[in-house]
Amino acid sequence: MTTRITIRKPDDWHLHVRDGEMLKAVLPYTAKNFARAILMPNLIPPVRTTADCSAYRERVLAALPPGSKFKPLMTCYLTDDTDPDDVERGFRDGVFTGVKLYPANATTNSAAGVTDYKKVMRVLERMEKIDMPFLMHGEDTDPDVDIFDREKAFIDRHLSKWIKQFPKLRFILEHLSSKDGADFVKSAAPQVAGTITPYHMMLTRNDWFGHGLKPYMYVMPVIKTARDRTALRKAATSGEACYFLGTDSAPHPYSRKVSTNGVPGMFNAPVALETYTQVFEEEGALDKLEAFASLNGPKHYRMPVNEETITLERTPWTAPEEVKVAGPDERALVYRGGETIAWKVVG
Ligand code: NCD
Ligand code: ZN
Repeated sequence: MTTRITIRKPDDWHLHVRDGEMLKAVLPYTAKNFARAILMPNLIPPVRTTADCSAYRERVLAALPPGSKFKPLMTCYLTDDTDPDDVERGFRDGVFTGVKLYPANATTNSAAGVTDYKKVMRVLERMEKIDMPFLMHGEDTDPDVDIFDREKAFIDRHLSKWIKQFPKLRFILEHLSSKDGADFVKSAAPQVAGTITPYHMMLTRNDWFGHGLKPYMYVMPVIKTARDRTALRKAATSGEACYFLGTDSAPHPYSRKVSTNGVPGMFNAPVALETYTQVFEEEGALDKLEAFASLNGPKHYRMPVNEETITLERTPWTAPEEVKVAGPDERALVYRGGETIAWKVVG
């Protein structure tokens, strides 16, 4: 049995670190294990312009532990009014790494998202022209679409057309949650790639509400069936270049998470890399972990791979149940908090 594994330092291609005290409390967990991360722009107010984004990046850099070499990669929150010239400027100046689509009201802090795709076609045209990646929360929010079918509906109704309309645009379908999503990405690679979270590979909807309701497992896209989970595990551990790591670690104040009208999002940064490693071990694919975690993402984003390495050992430890946050936010629940975690980062 393998008990120790060393890989190139990974990157997290989908991460929420929020702002203010929450940012300070959660960022160190990612900065410790990941060299870079794509930071999601769904703040209130959202990170819409190059100016918003430069200011947010400064706040993120200021929240890093002293001496950290972690590099935040920033995204532009697409709205009906996004200015293609500002997007181009931000990309050329190295402020934006990509543009992120939130369909309006699809998930946490997406009220300012896109209400009508016709309104953003000019931005997509420009992105294609300047070779700027397009990151998508790929769910169709039509109220007639069942929540478990939102990913498939988004692909069928929109993405399958856009890949033909913009043949040179690079797409990333974020947080793949279904077999349909995983299959589509493979069929449309290398133009389309997909990130996969640790929790979509660990959980099914039975875990979420089959034996008591676990509010912390409420995420968008929602956790689906065992068949979907199997497909995602096979996809991630296949080593195929179109799939890569994106934790979607998304902390919320406890009171907003555990509520009669709770918010979607799961804070998993404290156990993310260890959980991915467990999944790869269970699938007999530890030899593919480095491709998924450290090679495939940079390839799709056309960035260099990291030179540093990270080592994990099979040493059990207990995950913290929550992380304290100064001020009114108080604390954020941790995914797998209190559980014994098999793998540990040791260097
Ligand atoms: C994310 C959040 O909380 O910002 N929530 C989630 O359920 N995944 C937003 C997102 O990525 O959908
Ligand atoms: Zn997310």
